[in-house]
Amino acid sequence: MSERSVLVTGASGYIGSHTCVCLLQNGWRVIGIDNFSNSSPKVIPRIEQIAQLPMSFHRLDIRDTSALSEILRQEHITAVVHFAGLKSVSESVAKPLDYFDNNVCGSVALLRVLQQEGIRKLVFSSSATVYGEPTSVPVTEEASTSATNPYGRSKLMVEQMLSDLINSDATWRIATLRYFNPVGAHESGLIGEDPRDVPNNLMPFIAQVAVGRRPQLQVFGDDYPTVDGSGVRDYIHVVDLARGHLAALDRLLNHAGSFTVNLGTGRGVSVLQAVAAFEQASGRTIPLQRAARRSGDIATCYASATRATELLGWQAEYGLDKMCADHWRWQHNNPDGY
Ligand code: NAD
Ligand code: UD1
Repeated sequence: MSERSVLVTGASGYIGSHTCVCLLQNGWRVIGIDNFSNSSPKVIPRIEQIAQLPMSFHRLDIRDTSALSEILRQEHITAVVHFAGLKSVSESVAKPLDYFDNNVCGSVALLRVLQQEGIRKLVFSSSATVYGEPTSVPVTEEASTSATNPYGRSKLMVEQMLSDLINSDATWRIATLRYFNPVGAHESGLIGEDPRDVPNNLMPFIAQVAVGRRPQLQVFGDDYPTVDGSGVRDYIHVVDLARGHLAALDRLLNHAGSFTVNLGTGRGVSVLQAVAAFEQASGRTIPLQRAARRSGDIATCYASATRATELLGWQAEYGLDKMCADHWRWQHNNPDGY
């Protein structure tokens, strides 16, 4: 049996599926779990098809601690990558208890089982949302944190809990990864983002307009102090993000201690620039309507990506054109998702 076995929670989700491919391709034995609350069982064979390698998979909720313990005992896990959670800001405002139960209580349940089974290497999916409204850009990991909605608060609470856990027991090795805006898809076109409802995020919305599922994109805000008045974000290719998890795991295997890093490109792109790049990649026109600012949105957010390079030897490789081309291939090949 391989010595390097990784448990991936939320394995069939958007970022989880791309990370499973990357882990398999780099010699990890992968044991995925997911309750399919926001993903499809069809994802798992597609991961195996791309990697040309098998993975183990268990349909499971991370809050089911007895089933989780059983799996950890069977599978001899070295480390855990923890993606499982709910991620819609608007839904979190409507159903805050669901978010605290799933994201916070779910993480507590997982951590208790890991502690009990003596597994102390963890990579956690956090978000740039923990920076709240950044006072300056690029945003470094030292910037102050805050939350403006229950989703963001759930991420911040887990970050704080992990920090207390590390303080209580220095044998934990925890990588907290703060993602900026993941977009794109695997270049095979077999896996990608498949929102269940109307997409909240920009790129999946643009892709659904391009493929004819929605008539037009609303551009939220025309008076931000940016290059063209629309919001600026740091879009990062999901495969680059997946590679960031591999680099974080390598660091955890070889060095004691814990760390927090941003995973972004360090470059800001406006909504109108993203639309232009998507039109170029797809050859389709994206009808636009300028609309009022979306409540809770900030003008500009992009990462300082230097710590990830210094600590992990990682940096994003793919630019906006490839993000759009790969996102479009996925959407075009799978117009209705999985
Ligand atoms: P996703 O919804 O595609 O994947 C999450 C997966 O977790 C889904 O497959 C879902 O079915 C599963 N899941 C949810 N609750 C579960 C539970 N209790 N037990 C077992 N499985 C459960 O989301 P994603 O975009 O892949 O995001 C992965 C993680 O990264 C999330 O924690 C999210 O908050 C975080 N994140 C995402 C983004 C983004 O823009 N996509 C940005 C920053 C952080
Ligand atoms: C959103 C979430 C944030 C989460 C992040 C990644 C909100 C308020 N914030 O942030 O918590 O961490 O996604 O999942 O939901 N836009 C449009 N039209 C659209 C959709 C978006 O113009 O239909 C604009 C937005 O105003 C923004 C940019 O596109 O300027 C990116 O939006 P989005 O993809 O939702 O990401 P964030 O706003 O960064």
